[in-house]
Amino acid sequence: MLTAVQIKPDVYWVGALDWNARSFHGYRTEDGITYNAYLILDEKVTLIDTAKVTFKDEFLSRLSSVIDPSKIDVLVCNHVEMDHSGNVPTIKGLAPNVEIYASAPQGVKELTAHYHDLGYKGVKTGDTLNIGKRTLTFVQTPMVHWPDNMVTYDAYDKILFSNDAFGQHYASTGRFDDEVDLPEVMRQARKYYANIVQPYRMQAANAVKAVRKLGPDAIDIIAPAHGVCWRSHVADILDAYENVFTSGKLEDKALVVYDSMWGSTDKIAHAITDGFMAAGVPATLMDLKDNHVSDAMTVFLDAKYVAVGSPTLNSQMLPTVAEFVTYMKGLSPKNEGRVGIPFGSYGWAPLGPKNIAAELEGIGFDLPLGTIARNWLPDDAYLEGVRQQVIDLVK
Ligand code: FEO
Repeated sequence: MLTAVQIKPDVYWVGALDWNARSFHGYRTEDGITYNAYLILDEKVTLIDTAKVTFKDEFLSRLSSVIDPSKIDVLVCNHVEMDHSGNVPTIKGLAPNVEIYASAPQGVKELTAHYHDLGYKGVKTGDTLNIGKRTLTFVQTPMVHWPDNMVTYDAYDKILFSNDAFGQHYASTGRFDDEVDLPEVMRQARKYYANIVQPYRMQAANAVKAVRKLGPDAIDIIAPAHGVCWRSHVADILDAYENVFTSGKLEDKALVVYDSMWGSTDKIAHAITDGFMAAGVPATLMDLKDNHVSDAMTVFLDAKYVAVGSPTLNSQMLPTVAEFVTYMKGLSPKNEGRVGIPFGSYGWAPLGPKNIAAELEGIGFDLPLGTIARNWLPDDAYLEGVRQQVIDLVK
């Protein structure tokens, strides 16, 4: 039997570790993924979420190490996306009398669409469920990350079961923030927000407000559905969500993201980056041949300066750069005050960099340098000019 981890007396993590997952909806998950489920032993044995269906055996093994799954009385489905609800039918099959709760009406509708009508009960914000010593309170958090999302608060244990909110794609044997590499976990929390939650900034900010309303001493543990539980750094992750991730505030830092055919656009990218360096603005250079768009978006999140470069290929920007632009636009970043620097080299038509400029302008970037487009090869004098333009821009 696999290990379940007690996170409070009578509360256990019974999830699954997807160590080798390297992609989630195309988002590169270099540290793997976890599907967290939690078991509460009370008068009514309660399970919070399940796991992806392909992890049925692992999930059931951890669950069975604590209790016979047929004894589960209540299943709370905080979110219907299949990485969490995939084993709802499994639990129903093993415990036919289980009461299954989901948000109303959307969670119930989505569960019915995915798994037919298994007798779901809908709950709304403020609804409570007594399971013995404990009373669970539900708070709907629509669009963090699907319309059905909700969180469940257990006041007895001071645990917030937050589902996708505050999660990280991170597989580890440590179950708490103080048992793992914290800077890496914080980076993964940022990456998760930047690539999954970012389009729903307002809803995520409202979720944080709802958590704040519980009071400063109300939470010992935030137990998300992905990654580690926050125990020693609850204040840090709330602060990051409130003041960095959802705030839309931009920092004086730069992302230089591009692809190149024969090295000319690469040279311009390096000149731009060096300009930021000379001006004391932290910059990250990412060639899209070697870097994933989801990592670029992690840097992009609060970067005031974003330089996007491509040469012209068949009247277009390179497909790698188009992928970045499309992906970035889909995440609906708040671009107020964002400075774009479209750039690139070209042979006979500057359409690669010009198309980038049109895209960035169309989503609200300021383009104070216009389009940096170089015919054929940039020589040293040209590159020094680009570098100086960047220095002058950020002065
Ligand atoms: Fe982790 Fe929206 O599912």
